[in-house]
Amino acid sequence: MVENILEIDRINLFLVANFIILRATNVSYLKLRRIPMKVAVLGAAGGIGQALSLLLKTGLPAGSELSLYDVAPVVPGVAVDLSHIPTDVKVAGFGADDLNKALEGSDIVLIPAGMPRKPGMDRADLFNVNAGIIKTLAEGIVASCPKALVGIITNPVNGTVPIVAEVFKKAGTYDAKRVFGITTLDVIRSEAFVAELKGVDVATVKVPVIGGHSGTTILPLLSQVEGVSFTAEEVAALTPRIQNAGTEVVNAKAGGGSATLSMGAAAARFCMSLVKGLQGEEVVDYAYVAVENGDAEYFAHPVRLGKNGVEEILSYGELSAFETKAKNDMLETLKKDIKEGVDFMA
Ligand SMILES: NC(=O)c1ccc[n+]([C@@H]2O[C@H](COP(=O)([O-])OP(=O)(O)OC[C@H]3O[C@@H](n4cnc5c(N)ncnc54)[C@H](O)[C@@H]3O)[C@@H](O)[C@H]2O)c1
Repeated sequence: MVENILEIDRINLFLVANFIILRATNVSYLKLRRIPMKVAVLGAAGGIGQALSLLLKTGLPAGSELSLYDVAPVVPGVAVDLSHIPTDVKVAGFGADDLNKALEGSDIVLIPAGMPRKPGMDRADLFNVNAGIIKTLAEGIVASCPKALVGIITNPVNGTVPIVAEVFKKAGTYDAKRVFGITTLDVIRSEAFVAELKGVDVATVKVPVIGGHSGTTILPLLSQVEGVSFTAEEVAALTPRIQNAGTEVVNAKAGGGSATLSMGAAAARFCMSLVKGLQGEEVVDYAYVAVENGDAEYFAHPVRLGKNGVEEILSYGELSAFETKAKNDMLETLKKDIKEGVDFMA
């Protein structure tokens, strides 16, 4: 009898212990998924900055902070405007002299500051203006949030990412896992164009895009798109369409700037991948990152993201003969673009 009672007590104890463990894990799991983030957007009053900030105001985890910085005097107004949207994300605007205040404590910094293209310009034409802007902003990150994950949108991305890396190296704060060129716009354009061409549900389309972020350095791997196949003619037409999609927008806006709304959506999507990684979720996305012994010093790859930024640079897999040639042909341009960024800081 006593033994039976003890046995029942043991079972009860076991069940209670299990219940407590399950509750505890559940609670910490829920908390994990809701870790608030501080995200700073530098260049927040611009076309991309405003679209991106709107999507972050409505998409960041509850309790997060959104810090908007710009040299344009309208930036506090952008923050007030966004603050009227009823989500649990605090928004603050910071003007020209308050870069450090804007950046303090940031987990993620996104940079769409700088001049966009006009018709007839390619991204390389922006280097002279944007290199100085990106350098100043990177120095601010060194001073105020050297551990933040930094996503660079400012063109030419092929050269601005090396500038940021060189600023961090000089300051002794460089961590290659934390610096990203955002190439998501090339990925989302590829998804949209493939779905349109093949008449498939766009939500199911995944297109790997590797290389850099300008002209021929953008390399969509159409041979790896699952569930559809392309003729050689389709590949020959779709590849340059994806590579020149930015110019399509620049020309259509007829002097009014380059892609802002689609870029805002792309950067928000990439930011959410960074957030998920920081929260401990497994997530794979594409970005232009520093690679050791790769095709070039910086190259867009699939990367596994986590609490430290890039946890692993993944292989981009087998290329078709067309893609292999396109990759080999673009490397000289990409390496030249990278060198221009590195040399700017020499
Ligand atoms: N990576 C991509 O896929 C991609 C796509 C489209 C555009 N872009 C690039 O993004 C950049 C921004 O484009 P946009 O259309 O938003 O331009 P925009 O002119 O609308 O906005 C740029 C903003 O940057 C601000 N700015 C300038 N200097 C600054 C500084 N030192 N500190 C803070 N803010 C500063 C300006 O005041 C302005 O509000 C351009 O370089 C453009 O080429 C990149």
